Amino acid sequence: MKKISIKGTGSYVPKRVVPNSYFEKIMDTTDKWIISRTGIESRRMIEPGQALTDLATPASERALEMAGLSPKKLDIIIVGTSSADMLSPSAACILQHRLGAKNAVAFDVNAACPGFIYGLAVAQKFMQDGSYHHALVVGGEVISNRIDFKDRSTCVLFGDGAGAIVLEHSNGNRDGEILAIQLNSDGDLWNLLHVPGGGSRNPPSYQMLDAGLHYVKMRGNEVFKYAIRTMVDAARNVMKSKRITIKDIDWLIPHQANMRIMEEVANRLEIPMDKVIVTAHKYGNTSAASIPTALDEAVRSGKIQRGDLVLANSFGAGFTWAAALFRY
Ligand code: COA
Repeated sequence: MKKISIKGTGSYVPKRVVPNSYFEKIMDTTDKWIISRTGIESRRMIEPGQALTDLATPASERALEMAGLSPKKLDIIIVGTSSADMLSPSAACILQHRLGAKNAVAFDVNAACPGFIYGLAVAQKFMQDGSYHHALVVGGEVISNRIDFKDRSTCVLFGDGAGAIVLEHSNGNRDGEILAIQLNSDGDLWNLLHVPGGGSRNPPSYQMLDAGLHYVKMRGNEVFKYAIRTMVDAARNVMKSKRITIKDIDWLIPHQANMRIMEEVANRLEIPMDKVIVTAHKYGNTSAASIPTALDEAVRSGKIQRGDLVLANSFGAGFTWAAALFRY
């Protein structure tokens, strides 16, 4: 089977910064409460009229530029998202159009926050047998227009963004390698975190909007517990599959949901926080965008270097959870 490596990374977040003080003005909350319960200080949100591919396109262009690859060379584009520009077609097809990636097959993967790792797993399968040579995998989300700005327990958590990677077949020792990926789902837990409106069960209607069914509904305390348990399990399983121990890991990139969740995951895995990549304080929870955005920032700042062993893990609505182990 062919080895696959990451040739380029890119990310893009909207320009509009929304600090905690914004929420202090519109609801009964404080900067202090938000920071102490989540570690989030600010997040980025789109301007009215913007949509997911307005973030995914510059993120992808940056990844392609780093890889030195023309979009026409892409064989496959996968976007992990649950907030495509439209219900149909996929964000991946709109992204293909915007990039001019004429020769790619393009589709979305909806696995909520682990969508990027799910997309990576699909790309890996398509590339391993050698039939596809170049893949673009994006994790992106626009959640700011699906949160209820009257619900203080959800609206302070989320932000918008997109991250992308370009994958190629590995050429030799200096290249990194995707080593292992673990995907998991438990549909019995679907109602812990969901957006009930806008699909075929509660189709768009004035009644649906009046009932606020288009907003994120979450049972925060339960999500919190499952988040820790599932991210730790996924990380342990993916390491075990390659007989790698936590001491071998150079960097952990956890889903950037909440600082307390990340700290507890690091604590249980026994990895020090100075090996954990953190962006949640400035971007909040950007769902499928959180891992590729954090990866790109860590690569561009020089933290993550060629050859480093990286473990990424995530959880989200579904319930879904996943982990990826790769040498950058
Ligand atoms: N400001 C002030 N008070 C708030 C608040 C806010 N923004 N949000 C909730 N509260 C209040 C609650 O109303 C509750 O008040 P009450 O005791 O009078 O009813 C109190 O704080 C404690 O609520 P609780 O839900 O127990 O707080 P918590 O410490 O569990 O923190 C979350 C709430 C949402 C931050 C936390 O549960 C969490 O992070 N869950 C995981 C969410 C997540 O990661 N989702 C994304 C998955 S991809």
